[in-house]
Amino acid sequence: MPGYFEIQNLSVGFRTFEGERRVLDIERLVIGRGETYGLVGESGAGKTVLALTILGLLPKPAAVVHSGSIWFDGQDLLQKGEKELYARYRGKRLAMIFQDPMSTLNPVFTVGQQIARVVEKQQGLRGAAVAKRSLELLEMVKLPDAQSTLKKYPHELSGGQRQRVIIAIALSCGAEFLIADEPTRNLDVTIQAGILKLIGDLQKDLGISVLFIANNVGLVNVFCKNAGILYHGKLVEDGPSELVIRAAKHPYTQTLISAIPRDKSEKLKFASTVIKPEAQRGCPYYSRCNLAESICFDRMPMLETSSSGQKVACFMAEKQ
Ligand SMILES: Nc1ncnc2c1ncn2[C@@H]1O[C@H](COP(=O)(O)OP(=O)(O)OP(=O)(O)O)[C@@H](O)[C@H]1O
Ligand SMILES: [Mg+2]
Repeated sequence: MPGYFEIQNLSVGFRTFEGERRVLDIERLVIGRGETYGLVGESGAGKTVLALTILGLLPKPAAVVHSGSIWFDGQDLLQKGEKELYARYRGKRLAMIFQDPMSTLNPVFTVGQQIARVVEKQQGLRGAAVAKRSLELLEMVKLPDAQSTLKKYPHELSGGQRQRVIIAIALSCGAEFLIADEPTRNLDVTIQAGILKLIGDLQKDLGISVLFIANNVGLVNVFCKNAGILYHGKLVEDGPSELVIRAAKHPYTQTLISAIPRDKSEKLKFASTVIKPEAQRGCPYYSRCNLAESICFDRMPMLETSSSGQKVACFMAEKQ
């Protein structure tokens, strides 16, 4: 029986002029009820494509889901039709905070009008109940002076305030599973910390599960129980955050971690850019890996439990 949330053998591609390009190939990814899972990967790794696949929002007909299951509370979301996804799952039990806050909020309506629209439509509230619920939601995301925020337009809010409004709208329907796609990407470091704390607090208070997507491994360490590292659409390391981050086994994860500056004097390091022949069938990290041997070029490593406990897809992981 699959877990509360479990992705199995998911393979997604995009049709392009040059033929099809595989962008996701995930053997298994599990998130427990009420848990936070941090998914880290560089730009283009496939993080947003994964989020859109879960919600059935992939652009059609460009995207093709070749195979796989996405189990959610006993049901395979990939087997659900658009009608059922819309009526029962998306924006109801599963909510998403999209990567770009400005594209989520409509600039021509006030915050209050936008929240009201959602609670009227999703929860069937009317009149005074709408105003009461809107205020409650803004208070839930700890926006000071919620009453006056309701009357403001998105451009009158700071980036952090806008992100709080978006979180309020996302959770307005009482979702139990939140996908947060790089929710702090364009925010200052201090504001980032506030948003992360808010998501962490909401997760605990509401008991929801969170798939937290980030391009920075440091963010995940803060509040995710488990973490996965996505590289070229493949999960290359997966397990408890403290193992994935403090005892990383995959050379790519190690590079990501060594790239976090430890103090201000230390300069940002970059991943190796040694160009070796492009891997045909083997490990996607082959061309950038300093440890690669011929087996890495020839064969695709599968996720296997390492001596430390986390899963790693690397032939060289135990040889270091
Ligand atoms: N509509 C599309 N048509 C063709 N290819 C696409 C489309 N959307 C995404 N892709 C490709 O899929 C791959 C994964 O993209 P995705 O947006 O998931 O990356 P990401 O990990 O979210 O990156 P970022 O951190 O920049 O948001 C990329 O190579 C991208 O070019
Ligand atoms: Mg993205």
